[in-house]
Amino acid sequence: MTNTALWKRREKALGPTYTHFYDQPINIVKGEGVWLYDEKGNKYLDCYNNVVSVGHCNPRVVKALSDQAAILNTHTRYLHENVVALAEKLSSKFPEKLDTCIFVCTGTEANDLALQMSKAITGNEGVIVSDAAYHGNSMIMGAMDQRREDFGGANWLETFEPPNTYRNPEGTAESFADAAQAAITRLEDNGMGLAATMLDLSFDSNGILIAPDGYASLVVKKTHAAGGLVICDEVQAGYCRLGDHWWGFEKYGIMPDIVTLGKPMGAGHPVAAVVTTREIASKFAQIDSYFNTFGGNPVSAAVAKAVIDEIDDRELLKNVTDVGAYLKEGLDKIADKYDFVGSIQGSGLFWGLDLVKDATTKEPMSDSQLSQITTMIKDEGVLMGSTGRFDNILKIRPPLVFSKENADQALAAIEKVFSTL
Ligand SMILES: Cc1ncc(COP(=O)(O)O)c(C=O)c1O
Repeated sequence: MTNTALWKRREKALGPTYTHFYDQPINIVKGEGVWLYDEKGNKYLDCYNNVVSVGHCNPRVVKALSDQAAILNTHTRYLHENVVALAEKLSSKFPEKLDTCIFVCTGTEANDLALQMSKAITGNEGVIVSDAAYHGNSMIMGAMDQRREDFGGANWLETFEPPNTYRNPEGTAESFADAAQAAITRLEDNGMGLAATMLDLSFDSNGILIAPDGYASLVVKKTHAAGGLVICDEVQAGYCRLGDHWWGFEKYGIMPDIVTLGKPMGAGHPVAAVVTTREIASKFAQIDSYFNTFGGNPVSAAVAKAVIDEIDDRELLKNVTDVGAYLKEGLDKIADKYDFVGSIQGSGLFWGLDLVKDATTKEPMSDSQLSQITTMIKDEGVLMGSTGRFDNILKIRPPLVFSKENADQALAAIEKVFSTL
């Protein structure tokens, strides 16, 4: 069957809600490590998929999954070794205070539960989040994605400007944190106390940003002073993605009250978690109990534990730090050559190139130009994406097993495409 026939069948069966990358979508039939293969055997270097943290079809993860699936899959209402072993292992990656894990299936569910906890514990309803952040696809999380205007106008929600030092070079840790404070004040003026500040410290949807030193701790201080909790959404920033540390909040030297996890946790299998303090979990348990049919089932738990073991045994945190620094050096050289690369921000194996029409005005390239660029890079055998408020950020976010040789190939593809623009 040709791709066109499959595409037509998909449109007929799945309807128009589904989108796809590339005007001519590719049909990916196999994955291995950092590689994806289409039905014709074409090989692509995957610089997009963070979900497959330890690589596509990682043998250890596949074995953990199939071994457990062949024995038993139930839920957390029975005792089972796997979920306990996973919680112990996962907690060992966090500061001692964050010692309690609750398992769910998606990042959206994790964030939803974190908000339920924050509202129940503080007795407040208000939430603040950065403009154009993305924290999930449910009704509540959708309201927090300002790009989904249908859901806008929630009176419990206020947004603040993200700390983008390229687009707002006058901005400082203090002034950006003041923007968060102003959002808290607006909530309070509307009679809403603050339940939570939700932070994605990779600032992915904001354009992949590096906040000025001291910014995150100021936001934490202001949140606590207003009686709210700090939720760090580590769905993107966590699992070594930013290098040097397991978690984005460690990079910024802060201590959140609740952490949410997702995507990379199961290397492709749907498993996610809320990690919090025993005090918060206990207070929440007095108000409500929580059960998730699939969250923490023995198969998911086996998978998630295999992912952590693989990261540890292959020293992938070090790999992210080293290869990330190497990749950044190469990106800097490219940026020096092309005026339309306005800035490069990011960390570890997560980089964003802010592409502009004019370096002086910083007018963003259009999303259609970005789509052309990612298509041309794909035609060079490398997969990348785009993100940011204007969709003008070229996004590079490969699996954690990415090597320097892979980085060379990615850089060569960018260079080749940029030289033709
Ligand atoms: C920062 C962040 N939080 C939450 C989510 C939602 O995760 P899921 O799609 O697993 O519900 C995403 C998904 O892209 C995300 O990037």
